[in-house]
Amino acid sequence: MARTPIIAGNWKMNNTIAEGTQLVKDLAPLVKDAKVDVVVCPTSTALAAITAETKGTNIHVGAQNVHWEDHGAFTGEISTKMLTEIGVDYCVLGHSERRDYFGETNEGVNKRAHAAFAAGITPIICCGEPLEIRERGSYLDYVAFQVLEALAGFKPEEVAKLVIAYEPIWAIGTGKTATFDQAEEVCGHIRETIKKSYGAEAAEAVRIQYGGSVKPATIKDLMQQPNVDGALVGGASLKAKDFSEIVNF
Ligand code: 13P
Repeated sequence: MARTPIIAGNWKMNNTIAEGTQLVKDLAPLVKDAKVDVVVCPTSTALAAITAETKGTNIHVGAQNVHWEDHGAFTGEISTKMLTEIGVDYCVLGHSERRDYFGETNEGVNKRAHAAFAAGITPIICCGEPLEIRERGSYLDYVAFQVLEALAGFKPEEVAKLVIAYEPIWAIGTGKTATFDQAEEVCGHIRETIKKSYGAEAAEAVRIQYGGSVKPATIKDLMQQPNVDGALVGGASLKAKDFSEIVNF
């Protein structure tokens, strides 16, 4: 079974409502014939405007985080109910910036992923090693552990529907892309890890993205890698032309 690639733009803390609306206005005609699933992930204040603006297009909208409770005293958090109310389809979870700057844990990612999935929102679960783990050589075990912790309690048929994003931290925003072999090695290892715990069917179906300085010039070769099913794009997703070239690789 062929996996449909998924290319998502993580806008991070960029783009006001006005800027984001203009960006998707420019983007929509450029990606309308895309052969991949296209997702943009605006900041929370722009989610409603961007879901409204992308209605009737092939652009899906993702949030950058979600809480596991559906309401309550959780200052600064957003619930799945608030996201589904405005038509959000995806949610980035456990991004390294959330882990590094805001104390996100594997356990938290797991709870958020369960809540999102139960609400019909597809989690894009991020994993990836810092430079010192890469240099020490233990990155495969490190990433496999992050993935297994994030997936705890999911059934194989649920794992099949998730998206995993492998983003080596040393390649994010640094202009230092992992080589295609490095991306393939870890994405392949993630699939193998999922196969061992959840079986061949789940492993064959789950989509695994690479993220970290993906650019129009690198996407084509990246997508040739058998275990890379798409990309999670930061900086290059902020320009309609660049992001459309990535989507239309
Ligand atoms: P860059 O593409 O800017 O390196 O960001 C990658 C990323 O963190 C996407 O989530």
